[in-house]
Amino acid sequence: MKRHSVVRCLGLLGLFLFISPAFSTEDTAFTESVVIFNTICAKCHEAQCSGRLSFDDAFERSSNHILRHYNQASGKQWLQKELFDILLYMKEKCAYYPIQSPVPLKRIWGEDILEKFTTLMARNYFIPVGKFSPGTYRIELELEKDVKVTAHLISDEFDMAVDDCYQSSDRRINIPVLIEEPGDYYLRMYPREPVKLIRLKITPEEREVH
Ligand code: HEC
Repeated sequence: MKRHSVVRCLGLLGLFLFISPAFSTEDTAFTESVVIFNTICAKCHEAQCSGRLSFDDAFERSSNHILRHYNQASGKQWLQKELFDILLYMKEKCAYYPIQSPVPLKRIWGEDILEKFTTLMARNYFIPVGKFSPGTYRIELELEKDVKVTAHLISDEFDMAVDDCYQSSDRRINIPVLIEEPGDYYLRMYPREPVKLIRLKITPEEREVH
């Protein structure tokens, strides 16, 4: 009996191992749509909380509009639909579409995780960085090469703690942050030219004692 159940367990494990890559690919594809939406479409549609669409046949009517703003979705009906669904979610829930990704314990992200949160061509980033309480922090970015980037740190309630442009030096950028509103935060980055983010670290900043 015992032996039998072990075999069954192993069988299940095998099945799980067999299925899981398919799941993770799907997950990655959807995460990419969320990143595309929250970097490109968000320029106009962020925090649009009207709760409804203007037209019943909105998806059919919006295809050209979606392609105008994101040409790489051309011929990819599934991607257009995902972007559309993400807008629906934002309008109805007044929130970012949830991204399933645990925040690393010490808030240090390596290149492999960061690759999940970028768009292929332009290398815009939208990274869930987790919950923050009010206080001072420092964001450290390490890039593949020197470049100018626009960075936003924005909460799930759409409070902007950082909204500025930075020039890296020696491939690094340090951004001091003052968080006033507690919340779940996202780091958004638009590089002037495509660049890989190699490392991201966010640390609490000790207050200076006078
Ligand atoms: C430069 C601004 C801008 C950008 C960028 C933009 N949109 Fe729009 N979008 C609009 C405006 C304006 C409307 C019409 C008014 C409205 O419903 O918000 C609209 C309407 C829509 C609609 C129809 C909504 C409805 O209520 O019927 C969809 C769907 C849509 N956009 C999706 C997207 C997607 C997906 C992207 C990114 C690939 C995107 N848009 C990028 C400005 C923009």
